[in-house]
Amino acid sequence: MIKKVLSVIAMSLVAVMSFGQLRLRPDNIEEIVKAMTDEEIASLLVGSKEPEFYFFEGTAAGVRGIPRLGIPATISCDGPAGLHFYPLRDNSDDTFYCTAFPVGTLSASSWDPDLMELMAGAMGDEVHEYGVDMFLGPGMNIHRSPLCGRNFEYFSEDPVLSGRMAAAYVRGIQNNGVTATVKHYAANNQETNRTENDARIDQRALREIYLKNFEIAIKEGHPGALMASYNKLNGEYVQQSFDLLTTVLRDEWGYDGVVLTDHGAKEGTVKAAKAGCDLMQPGNEEELERMLDAVKKGTITRAELERNARHVLRYIVSTPRFQEYKFSNDPDLKSHAELARKVAGESIVMLKNEGGTLPLRAGAKLAVYGVGSEDFVAVGIGSGHVVAKHVANMRESLTDAGFELNQDLAGYYKAYVELDHATKRVAGAMDWLMYESWGYGKKVSEPDVPLNQLPQQAAEADVAIVVISRDAGEGNDRSMIDDYELTARDRKLIRLVSDEYHAKGKKVVVILNIGGVIESVSWKNLVDAILLPWQPGQEGAYAVADVLTGKVNPSGKLTMTFPVDALDHPSSANFPAFPQRGESEEGLRKNIDYTEYAEGIWVGYRHFTTREVPVSYPFGYGLSYTTFQYSKPVVKATADGFTASVTVTNTGSVAGKEVVEVYVSAPSGGLEKPSRELKAFGKTKSLAPGESQSLSFTVPAFDLASFNEAVSAWETAAGKYQVHFGSSVEDIRATGSFKVKKARFWEVHNVL
Ligand code: GLC
Repeated sequence: MIKKVLSVIAMSLVAVMSFGQLRLRPDNIEEIVKAMTDEEIASLLVGSKEPEFYFFEGTAAGVRGIPRLGIPATISCDGPAGLHFYPLRDNSDDTFYCTAFPVGTLSASSWDPDLMELMAGAMGDEVHEYGVDMFLGPGMNIHRSPLCGRNFEYFSEDPVLSGRMAAAYVRGIQNNGVTATVKHYAANNQETNRTENDARIDQRALREIYLKNFEIAIKEGHPGALMASYNKLNGEYVQQSFDLLTTVLRDEWGYDGVVLTDHGAKEGTVKAAKAGCDLMQPGNEEELERMLDAVKKGTITRAELERNARHVLRYIVSTPRFQEYKFSNDPDLKSHAELARKVAGESIVMLKNEGGTLPLRAGAKLAVYGVGSEDFVAVGIGSGHVVAKHVANMRESLTDAGFELNQDLAGYYKAYVELDHATKRVAGAMDWLMYESWGYGKKVSEPDVPLNQLPQQAAEADVAIVVISRDAGEGNDRSMIDDYELTARDRKLIRLVSDEYHAKGKKVVVILNIGGVIESVSWKNLVDAILLPWQPGQEGAYAVADVLTGKVNPSGKLTMTFPVDALDHPSSANFPAFPQRGESEEGLRKNIDYTEYAEGIWVGYRHFTTREVPVSYPFGYGLSYTTFQYSKPVVKATADGFTASVTVTNTGSVAGKEVVEVYVSAPSGGLEKPSRELKAFGKTKSLAPGESQSLSFTVPAFDLASFNEAVSAWETAAGKYQVHFGSSVEDIRATGSFKVKKARFWEVHNVL
């Protein structure tokens, strides 16, 4: 069918003589749309990865150009932890490395939207300077289960934290004049059978949890693009759902960007276009054929074609390529690496620090265990992988930080990892591009390190460091065995190292270099300190060292609960990684062909806190090297919601930052509601010992509303509301209250 495309282009070239120079400008989109033939519009709405549109290795997709009308071809590339490029090109001796920034779960753990915007700003600069128009990030699906393979790309179990951080990320990217893409709208919360799985969700959970973060990101971040997810939602493919893509997204939320598919090619190309999905990505000839056929048969109207074309052209005129920006191919990778280290340092969560184990004494002798100390995981695998020029590891960063490492151990892991990589690099041992560019198969498995030297090592070292590392990513969900739960070797390391070092009165520190929540209760009491850097980007190992030395006082807080048992999450009753499989009446496979979100709104802390189910580490939890006191808050009802302020004082001996989490408990009666829900949050600047800072919050009444399915409306009930100021969802430091005199309602379409 290539000849079809060529005929379209040929027609355009022929036409160019007759129509003179009608060329796309930001102010003549309407004129262009009217001047486009049906075939030209169809070719605009179906992307392509044909050579002329596929500018370089790393291009995820492209929008076809229409030379006759001065419409350039434009391109998109992945994120979201940095530009996903392949650094080598056939036609150039240059390299095109990008910065691997901290993954979404870590950067969200900073609870600092300004920092997120700063990081995304640097990321967007690389998008801009490498000549990319659309960046396929942020990934922002809700952490429904700890076992979703792509949680590392996403931000949180809570829609307000997720939405606010996503909005900041979008602003940062788009400050560079390129387009951010919020994805994957919506309810793409598992990787198993992700292109066909039907997410079955009640309206309230959909509105309050799975759409709410996208609503916030769109209203506060104004992304230029939105990627519709592969999956079905309540029986219909998201990318073909008029309810989701037009009624909710555009009519209710006022979204005015472009809507594109995730990268596949479903049969329902025309249904998707009619539903409001503007752009088929990456696009192929069959899809173009279907679109051209529909145009001929009139099964898609001219009005629908023009509506979608307008959205695409509005995107195109915003692109650097349309503006003929002369990109440098030379972004400031050095300063971006420094920023990546800073963001990671501000986001690392300290889960435990018994008896002042941390920070470590300068120059301390360390014995570092765990292959992850050498094979440090910067970013997860899949389209969200980033090919960094160099990923720092703990051996380097701890040595550079002035610690004296046990060289036998360091040498052992270094040799082991080098051999593993060399073996894998043997030609044909694996798909090189998938290995390097997507990260599949890269993780080095934990060796059964000989521990016969343990007594000697423990005698020489001051402190033991044990690195537990995990990789996960696109296409597969995680398993309970040897992934969520510790492996036998992890367990052996922690137990034997702890026994030996504690017998000698020495401390043990665990570093969790992981992409998703793991089991923690069975071992956390065996060790003295635990740091959680998640997958902290290429400079993350240095950020860990900065926290270990005390150069950075950790201020990150958990964005997802660490449960006692993964099965304590109510979503576990309906998630592929858990054994409850079965067949439905239609012969569909439970959790594979369809997934019942039977837990409704009871996701994460909403479940654990309300039902008082004990957890290992609660949502919003994170320790500091100092302590903070909260003043009595001032809470006032306003004509539209409430305002609050609270003063935080550093009552410890070192400078530090505190995240204040504002939870609201609604009056009882009416809809059953979580005992408390996050409605605002703020982070202090670095407070010196004794220094105070007052944080103020304004929460409109709409943000207090719950979704009442019976009347298809958001409802803020009248009555007395409690406002809790917490250092975590369970560590409430101050409480105030205010009254809503008259119930408020905001009606929405009764869809989905
Ligand atoms: C993938 C992912 C999506 C990515 C796209 C392009 O399947 O789901 O996140 O942006 O395709 O690689």
